[in-house]
Amino acid sequence: RMIHVLNGPNLNLLGQRQPEVYGHETLADVETRCTALADQLGLGLRFRQSNHEGQLVDWIHEARAEAAGIVINPAAYSHSSVAILDALNAYDGPVIEVHISNIHRRESFRHHSFVSARAEGVIAGCGTEGYLLALRRLASILGQ
Ligand code: DQA
Repeated sequence: RMIHVLNGPNLNLLGQRQPEVYGHETLADVETRCTALADQLGLGLRFRQSNHEGQLVDWIHEARAEAAGIVINPAAYSHSSVAILDALNAYDGPVIEVHISNIHRRESFRHHSFVSARAEGVIAGCGTEGYLLALRRLASILGQ
């Protein structure tokens, strides 16, 4: 079964962008670790990143036909995007929301995520390991 991992804006700069907040690993490193774990769990993986809200909406629509579950780090769109929430509400499978940093100990505008209203689970502040935890959680939800 296939899992789609979707990453929002500025995460292409992971490793270079505010490393004191987001760490030194790149998004390619995260993809490599996710692929290895997905293999172990018997899951397929599609790992994507976009800086564009509409692209993320289109990818969530694709997931309707292709993905048994979604891991999403909507990045800044978490705090603003009703469109991404609506797209996820049109998706039937389990959704785990990931934030690398602990959004609750940062600026108050990061404390609310529209996506959390749809997510089965939310992982924040576990660094990039949050993606791996999310995959394990989806595997257990899916009985894998
Ligand atoms: C983030 C947290 C968001 O507030 C921020 O806009 C990001 C990344 C995280 O992974 O910690 O871009 O989603």
